[in-house]
Amino acid sequence: MGKKIFSGVQPTGNLHLGNYLGAIKNFVDLNNDKDNKCIFCVVDLHAITVKQDPKELKNNIRETVATFIASGIDPKKSIIFNQSRVAAHAEGAWILGCVARMGWLNRMTQFKEKAGKDKEKASIGLYSYPVLMAADILLYDATHVPVGDDQKQHLELCRDIAQKFNNDFEAENFLQVPEPLIQKEFSRIMSLKDGSKKMSKSELSDLSRINLTDDKDQIINKIKKAKTDPLPMPRDLKELNERLEAKNLLGIYSSLTNSKLEISLKNFAGKNFSEFKEILTEELVNKIEPISNEIKKLLEDKSYLDEILLDGVEKANMIASKKIERIKEIIGF
Ligand code: ADP
Ligand code: TRP
Repeated sequence: MGKKIFSGVQPTGNLHLGNYLGAIKNFVDLNNDKDNKCIFCVVDLHAITVKQDPKELKNNIRETVATFIASGIDPKKSIIFNQSRVAAHAEGAWILGCVARMGWLNRMTQFKEKAGKDKEKASIGLYSYPVLMAADILLYDATHVPVGDDQKQHLELCRDIAQKFNNDFEAENFLQVPEPLIQKEFSRIMSLKDGSKKMSKSELSDLSRINLTDDKDQIINKIKKAKTDPLPMPRDLKELNERLEAKNLLGIYSSLTNSKLEISLKNFAGKNFSEFKEILTEELVNKIEPISNEIKKLLEDKSYLDEILLDGVEKANMIASKKIERIKEIIGF
């Protein structure tokens, strides 16, 4: 049987190779399976949990849509829309916030990381962010949610919220308890400058990531400058696991070429990094350059991107507004 897929990406700019290999590549495969029903949401309500410049936010919403399409998601097969235009998300988040427990949210590691030392100054939205994410998913009865490894804990919370709602209101199986779809390998792409840190939009140094809008020369330059160590390429898994930068680069190569890490390891064992980097660069340019060119082309036609969103909002609204009405009935409103 086909799956009901839901996933979201924040329109916070700088979409990068980690977003692509950890999530968007998977979206494309799911979109291509005709038995699946896919919904991909630009989660602008999530984006404002930290400060955004209104003009940039508007551009970033369109850029996220352009990235989806340039990567291979077909807007005729999948619903693409932005969260803030479907009121049920905000309503659902409030209601589910009355189901979720403080103790559950206090365990969320992403909040701790993002809020940093000064928790008192973090927005309430940043704290309740995973509850909004649960509403996103549960409004569409999603059976499967493709995400990168960092979102696993939020999905577990979503499952707990769905189960508690069904129990509290004696509505057996009313909210669908979703399954995470997390790639077994390469679900966490690391910074090109530090193999212990996640590749991230918010990292100050642009050299730490390959952006999906980078051109050929930028890709070549970033891989040339990517951190390695003075030794030749690792020869076995034990050595690989101790050398984080080598592991990350070899992981990126394997993910791009759809090959097993062990096989890539064997192919490059004992070679110089420079030789490997050349081949890696070629693979990256082959994959990313066409996406980057297509994003730029799509961004020139803003009305096309806006039409896709409008169409998506209409379709999403039809599904979500029915579900939120049932939720309200069950609660006793
Ligand atoms: P982030 O600020 O973490 O990039 P997004 O909402 O843009 O947040 O993330 C979109 C998707 O990309 C999520 O499924 C997330 O798990 C995934 N992702 C983000 N960074 C990485 C990474 N470095 N490696 C793998 N997947 C990632
Ligand atoms: N929190 C996710 C992230 O930062 C984005 C997101 C919001 C999401 N709502 C979602 C992902 C629903 C999957 C399903 O990456």
